[in-house]
Order: sequence, then C-alpha cells, then structure tokens
Amino acid sequence: MAGMYPRLRPALFALPAETAHRATITALRLLSVPPVPALLWRLLGPRDPVLAVRALGLEFPSPVCLAAGFDKDAQAYRALAGFGFGAVEVGTVTPRPQPGNPRPRLFRLPADQALINRMGFNNRGAHAAAAALRGRRGGHVVVGANIGKNKDTPEAAAAGDYVTGARALAEVADYLVVNVSSPNTPGLRDLQATARLRPLLAAAREALDQASPSRRVPLLVKIAPDLADEDVDAIAALAVELGLDGIIAVNTTPKRAGLATPPAEVAAIGPGGLSGPPLKSRALEVLRRLRAQAGDSLILISAGGIETGDDAWERLRAGAHLIQAYTGVVYGGPLWAWRLNKELAARAHREGMTSMPPTACPT
Ligand SMILES: Cc1cc2nc3c(=O)[nH]c(=O)nc-3n(C[C@H](O)[C@H](O)[C@H](O)COP(=O)(O)O)c2cc1C
Repeated sequence: MAGMYPRLRPALFALPAETAHRATITALRLLSVPPVPALLWRLLGPRDPVLAVRALGLEFPSPVCLAAGFDKDAQAYRALAGFGFGAVEVGTVTPRPQPGNPRPRLFRLPADQALINRMGFNNRGAHAAAAALRGRRGGHVVVGANIGKNKDTPEAAAAGDYVTGARALAEVADYLVVNVSSPNTPGLRDLQATARLRPLLAAAREALDQASPSRRVPLLVKIAPDLADEDVDAIAALAVELGLDGIIAVNTTPKRAGLATPPAEVAAIGPGGLSGPPLKSRALEVLRRLRAQAGDSLILISAGGIETGDDAWERLRAGAHLIQAYTGVVYGGPLWAWRLNKELAARAHREGMTSMPPTACPT
C-alpha cells in the first residue's frame, strides 16, 4: 500500500485539482461505511501512546491533524480518522450554504509542492455540517468545526454569522474555530483587528456557553501569516484576556514571494491563498512569537508547509501542541498521516521521551 500513491498520483494530478479533490472525497465517503473506518484505524491508526496529546480537555491519539478546508462539509471525517489523523477540522462552514467562487479556483504548483486556492468558502452551511456530525461523539478521532461568515453578510453583521455557526455546531463538534483569516472572502481578514475581534470572539464564546451548558466547548481563533508581528502579539494577548483556549496559525497567504514556479505561470493563476512549503518559515516564526507572548496559557496549533516528520517535530519543539496540514496531504497521499506518526514516534523514542513535546503545557 505504501508504494501505491506514487503510481496513483500522476492519474489524480492529470485531473483538474478540484475534480481530483472531489474524487478523493467521494472515495473517502465510500470508505466511511462501517466497519471500514474501524478496520482502517486498526491498520493505520496512531496507537503508540507516545503520540497521544491531551489538549483542550480532549485526548488526541496523535498530534498530526487535518487542517480545515479538506472536508468542508463533514462528509469524510470517519474515513480520514482511519488514515491516522489525530483530529479532523471540518469547515469552514457559513450560516447559509454558498457556492463559493467560479471555477477554476484550485491550482497546483508542483515545482513548489504548493497550492493556490480561491474557493471562497463553498459549503452546504453550518446546519448541514451539524447534521453530518450528529451522533458521532465518542469515536476515535477528535473533530473540530471551523466557522466563517457568508460572503454577502455585511461586515457590520459579521459577529452574528459566527454566533449562528457556534450555536449550530456547539453540541456536535469537540472544539470550534473562528476563522477570520481566509484571503478569499472580501473584508474577512480585517476582522483580525483587535477592536473588531474582541466583540466577535466574546459573542462566539457566549453563544457556545448558552448552546452547550453541560460541556464547555473549547474556542480557538485562526490567524493569517501576513499579520504584522505586533498584531500577532496583540491577538495572543487578546486570546489570553478573553479566556480563549488557543490559536491556529496559520492560514494561506495572498503573497507570492520566493516561488520556484515561473512568475508568468503564477500570474496566470490569479488571486488566491498560497499554501504549502512557501509558508514554512513564516508559520514557524508566528508560532514562536505566539508561544513567547502567551506563555503556557494557550494551546497552539501550527499549520503551514508541514511535509515531513522533521517539520512536525520542529513545530512541536517550538511550542505547538498539535500540527495541521492540508497541502502536504495532497502531495503526500493517503498514507501521509501514518508516515508522520511513524516518524514522530521513532523520534520521540530515540530521544528517550515518553510524550510529545512540549511537555509542560496547559491541558
Ligand atoms: C484548497 C484549500 C482550501 C482551504 N480552505 C480552508 C477553509 O475553508 N478554512 C480554513 O480555515 N482554512 C482553509 N485552508 C487553509 C488550510 O487549513 C491551512 O491553514 C493552510 O493551507 C496552511 O497549511 P498547509 O500549508 O499545510 O496547506 C484551505 C487550504 C487549501 C489548500
């Protein structure tokens, strides 16, 4: 099985990127019928106790998690769990379903092992995702839900969209993420300014508490790599002040610096968020800043350009409790999480550790 993806990949990569992604989701849905996920888990699941991470009051069987955007409508999380992810983050979902931007809107940059997307939050809506997640709690995998605003919701009413998303998903997701960092919804990233973020996060927190009185649902915020350093610091301070549980850093970038892909090819693609290895150094920098600023009072989830066990290890050493990937999974194939789990466990054993770094962390 380990040698199959290099042979399968040229066929998948011959398809337009979004068609290949849809085919993947369809295949994963077929694999979501019991008892297949449990069998997959037995073959590929992370069972080495050294990989287990306790964070956000939850037990993650591995720190290797799937980033938002892959399983937007919560259709494939059961099978994805079987492939070895410690958590799957579904979404971004918006209160009302929306089609997203016109196609083509997803592009591969093989020379950089990167992607550019301008999907624009295509999704079936928060209530459909909630229906897909209902009854799932107690499985092997942690499922987070990432919420955003509809494109046609005026910016002044944005907080209301996050409240609706939080209410819809409070009881069916293990944790919630406020996404204010996607570059493909006009004005969304302006919500990262602390003056706008403060009431929005406070409203989302209150909505979660009201919708789920018996269980405190962890709340995180996901930030962009393009924030100025002072703004990263300010968001860390705000998150601590508001009693948020953590931060996910980072989302995609509209920047195009340092690419091996010829500039004319990049320009022909047009606007969108760049992901994959070009994000690596900024993602690490933002993580270090957040850790320095927040001390041990926030759970940090690092995303952006993670391809290998070494990349993941470096993020964990720099203060991440968990890591997420999307682009690395596209280029690495279905055994990507299994491979990273194997590499991370071997590394921990080699270094004589009994758990993943960081060892002193809030749970
Ligand atoms: C095609 C695509 C769609 C994405 N959609 C979302 C999304 O809906 N919400 C979100 O928070 N992040 C989304 N992301 C960003 C990823 O979750 C991740 O933060 C980013 O790609 C950096 O990680 P990576 O380099 O491992 O891909 C998307 C990324 C890609 C490539």
